[in-house]
Amino acid sequence: FHVDWDLVTAEKAGFDHFMLKEIHEQPKAYRDTMMGRIGADGKSVTLSKEIGMTTEQIRGISRVHIVACGTAFHAGLVGKTVIESLARIPVETDVASEYRYRSPIITPDTLVIVVSQSGETADTLAALREAKRNGARVLAITNVVGSSVARDADDVITTWAGPEIAVASTKAYSSQLIAFYLLGLYLAQERGTIEQAQVAEIVEAMHRLPDQVESILEQAELYKGVAEAVSKHDNLFFIGRGLDFAVAQEGSLKLKEISYIHSEAYAAGELKHGTLALIEDGIPVIALVTQEDLYEKTLSNIKEVKARGAHVLGIANAGYEDEVAKSVDETFSIPRTLPLLTPALSVVPLQLLSYHASLARGNDVDKPRNLAKSVTVE
Ligand code: AGP
Repeated sequence: FHVDWDLVTAEKAGFDHFMLKEIHEQPKAYRDTMMGRIGADGKSVTLSKEIGMTTEQIRGISRVHIVACGTAFHAGLVGKTVIESLARIPVETDVASEYRYRSPIITPDTLVIVVSQSGETADTLAALREAKRNGARVLAITNVVGSSVARDADDVITTWAGPEIAVASTKAYSSQLIAFYLLGLYLAQERGTIEQAQVAEIVEAMHRLPDQVESILEQAELYKGVAEAVSKHDNLFFIGRGLDFAVAQEGSLKLKEISYIHSEAYAAGELKHGTLALIEDGIPVIALVTQEDLYEKTLSNIKEVKARGAHVLGIANAGYEDEVAKSVDETFSIPRTLPLLTPALSVVPLQLLSYHASLARGNDVDKPRNLAKSVTVE
């Protein structure tokens, strides 16, 4: 009796690629990252095991710098909005390879947050050390316990996404978002910038996220057809406003790194300041329209690209899809959540789109050309 198997196939647990497996692991990653960090009454967030700062020290933070590379940097863009809106602390974001060389203003009351899946990225590690040299407190958000970043930081929030094998980061990114929501809430509680009722509302919505991701994944096949159409193009655009713009940047990077299709993400309102000149007949534009307060503005930007012949794919909140459908060519809906939390849902269709576009182009999904999972050189 002989059974044919190999370790890699076994590790993929029935999925064709690690990336697809990891996309499907996101509901679990969300639950695990939240576990033990939300009070039993659902009205408070507890990070006192992860963060050694006293309430007084937290109240004394005058600015936050979020520093990271690639996808982790994109999580930081969402983190900026989360921390600013909940804890009311000014936040700057930098890619780690730029941070050290622009002589940032780092003071002892600066909290530097470094974000790294692997915890071994050379630029992120160097930025962390530079921040410490300048007397800042450093908080790391990382997926690897005991990594260099985790060891060197003062405080560590571990994302419990589990090992991520595919070069294209998926569950690590979305778990970093969960870590930022927890952190934003915790800092806000400690600084007294949030009411308990609001914490409870956000926490309740966070608890619904895993099932909501599940419901997007149940319709994963929807993205295959559109990805095949997209894969025939050499250029495309992602547009959005506010948090939609932050997610658009991640969607664009994901598509580039595994499908090798050139794409750019633009703040929808910036189009008319130059990029609109690139819009020509049939070019795909992926428009994120999940921020309800910016809804009308984004729809008007969509009309601008439609009028120049773009083929627009809209990602909209459930309940708004019919309205959005009037302005776009194809609509994909995601479950409705609080505006601040939508990135944790809206990124999933973009991951699936990139995955299927990469497959349609016959690429090596898990090991894209020229890229390494962990970049340990500067
Ligand atoms: C993500 O899809 C990329 N492969 C890449 O941008 C990555 O996020 C970046 O290199 C940072 O890695 P880290 O999170 O391990 O520090």
